[in-house]
Amino acid sequence: MWRATVEPAWELAAWRDQARMALRAEIAPEVIEWNGDVDGLLGARALVDAEPVREAPAVPGGFLRLAQAVIAHRDPHRHALLYRLLWRLTHGEPSLLEHDADIDVRRAAQLEKAVHRDAHKMKAFVRFREVPGEDNAFIAWYEPDHHVADLVAPFFAKRFAGMRWAILTPYRRAIWDGEHLELGPGGDRNEVPHDDAGEALWRRYYASIFNPARLNPRAMKAEMPVRFWKHLPEARDLPLLMRDATQRVDAMVARAPEPARRRVPAPMFATPTPVDDLDALNLALRDCRACPLWQPATQAVPGEGPRDARIVFVGEQPGDEEDLCGRPFTGPAGRLFDRAMAEAGLDRSAVYVTNAVKHFKFELRGKRRIHQRANAAEQAACRGWLERELALLQPERVVCLGATAATAMLGRGFPLMRERGRWHRTASDVPVMATVHPSWVLRQPPHEQEAAYRGLVDDLRRIIELDAELPTHATPSVANRH
Ligand code: URA
Repeated sequence: MWRATVEPAWELAAWRDQARMALRAEIAPEVIEWNGDVDGLLGARALVDAEPVREAPAVPGGFLRLAQAVIAHRDPHRHALLYRLLWRLTHGEPSLLEHDADIDVRRAAQLEKAVHRDAHKMKAFVRFREVPGEDNAFIAWYEPDHHVADLVAPFFAKRFAGMRWAILTPYRRAIWDGEHLELGPGGDRNEVPHDDAGEALWRRYYASIFNPARLNPRAMKAEMPVRFWKHLPEARDLPLLMRDATQRVDAMVARAPEPARRRVPAPMFATPTPVDDLDALNLALRDCRACPLWQPATQAVPGEGPRDARIVFVGEQPGDEEDLCGRPFTGPAGRLFDRAMAEAGLDRSAVYVTNAVKHFKFELRGKRRIHQRANAAEQAACRGWLERELALLQPERVVCLGATAATAMLGRGFPLMRERGRWHRTASDVPVMATVHPSWVLRQPPHEQEAAYRGLVDDLRRIIELDAELPTHATPSVANRH
């Protein structure tokens, strides 16, 4: 009898080392005990002592993908199951995985499905809390059913690339410092704060969208199983909301019927409750569903810069790189913007940079995501975020980069190329200037690019010359909306 030890039990590489030794020594599945009780295996030899008699055979890629998921399941028989499959694949049954009715293949598929479901739940139900006393750092506690932390961590690294975060589970922790993902030993629930300001926002939000007339406890529990409620701040209020639902519906029914109202357009501002600081606003922004752009995008990209910045720059929308890293103007247009700012004598780190549209809109061409301009409805759906951002920042000046930003700040039909570099005032008296977008400069034919760039730098220099030039009244040709 042989003894195989997989440590840690959920790591594919650890299992693969053992399986390779067993295969090279031509040891059949029936004579291997996987991760068994060592005392019960007296006399069994460790696989490291097995004599290799052949080269390790090639393993189909499909099997490795399956094994990656199956190994994460808690089933104690999964190691043996995987070795059985591998043995059969390499001993005369190369197309075994196509036989759905085979008992081993079926069992592996069940385990794989359970792991994928668990990974999906983790993506949906992890809730971050702010780390007290640290800027832009978040931590979450989560108890998955299976060993899915390693599978899911790259998803969070991509989705929340712009923040520092840690997810602690009882067996594993994932830490993202903004650049690197590190996986380490498990943690303790008490390492994670129990409450924070963002949590209160979540709960208020959830209570405000909870519709008692639509309550369907069975469907709700299927979608959000009760065992996950402990991870969800909003679920803490569910028992109360459900208890009061019948009463609230009765009150709705008893209320005198009102005449049908004209359909009013959806509110521009998608958060249900006003928020009074930028962090809370940006937290709410993550869940904006006011237009369809959120769905294909990786994440909403909030503005960035000092909270007391005197100047706010408004761009169009995040591009491919910004969408992935979660920060505005970090891609090619951002690099050109930085260069132009420096040449104009402005310090980017002293200004606040944001976008009129917060999600990346693109069209897929092969593997490439090609930028698409947001349409009027998508721009309008996003305007509330910009308005709220500006209301909280109270800048002394706003600079629009490109037509979309100029439309958001100065109204449709703003003649950008005619009015660029000139100051206007919004209705609330904030000086606004529009100039071309850095990506417009990049799109110019090579022989015109230098002149386009010089024009942008010249416009940016006007920011410093502002006081001498500013009109004392709003420019009449411009529709003011601030
Ligand atoms: N273009 C924009 O308008 N904004 C960004 O953040 C990046 C590119």
